Amino acid sequence: MALLQLERVKKIYGKGDIKVEALRGIDLEIGTGEFSTVFGPSGSGKTTLLNLIGALDKPTEGKVYLNGSSTGEMTKNKLAMLRRENIGFIFQDFNLIPVLTAFENVEFALKIASRNGQPSGERTREILEMVGLGDMMHRRPGELSGGQKQRVAIARALVKAPKLILADEPTANLDSETSKGILEIMGRMNKELNTTFIFSTHDPMVMEYARRLLEIRDGKITRDERRE
Ligand SMILES: Nc1ncnc2c1ncn2[C@@H]1O[C@H](COP(=O)(O)OP(=O)(O)OP(=O)(O)O)[C@@H](O)[C@H]1O
Ligand SMILES: [Mg+2]
Repeated sequence: MALLQLERVKKIYGKGDIKVEALRGIDLEIGTGEFSTVFGPSGSGKTTLLNLIGALDKPTEGKVYLNGSSTGEMTKNKLAMLRRENIGFIFQDFNLIPVLTAFENVEFALKIASRNGQPSGERTREILEMVGLGDMMHRRPGELSGGQKQRVAIARALVKAPKLILADEPTANLDSETSKGILEIMGRMNKELNTTFIFSTHDPMVMEYARRLLEIRDGKITRDERRE
């Protein structure tokens, strides 16, 4: 069974005259351990696609199966549980908790994800050091730059070591040195833990790391290329 399966998926925003058909019939299968990148022009549907894959939103038509279950039929609680247990999100607006420090933001994500016991702090420190925030972990989001906040969001997604990590333009605010470091961490997780990654990006460096390239144009997948 594929980790993820989309069948004739359409997503239409709004209604009547202001209807926007953001996805216009997507068929896609992604297996455990794949490292894929979705690329395409602004407005082509990348974020919409990641939202559906991550069960943050439901398709207007068609089916999205995660682990064999269709998200369209699940209750809000069930979807929240599915996300919490299986998916790490690195999204454009970060969603960091403003009153918590970088360390506490990451630790909090770990606490929510782990069913048994308290996190020790050690793993949180380690991962923050890996993304280059070792000396900033006690700052709050308001005291960090865009790129630094993005790295907190990356650390937060990685710390849980989820099955699936979805990243919407994760390197958009980062310099190329930091981007490279983060891509290497992700590559290692992919190899060692078989974590599945799906990125959206405009960044040629991210595309270079990917082993499957999906091009989306106007709400449709126009290219699907694997390489090794
Ligand atoms: N909540 C919404 N309501 C109405 N239209 C929306 C909504 N979200 C996205 N759209 C529209 O759906 C289409 C796809 O948007 P989407 O955000 O998925 O594109 P994208 O490929 O992620 O673009 P970008 O590269 O700029 O992030 C666009 O035409 C956009 O204007
Ligand atoms: Mg987008």
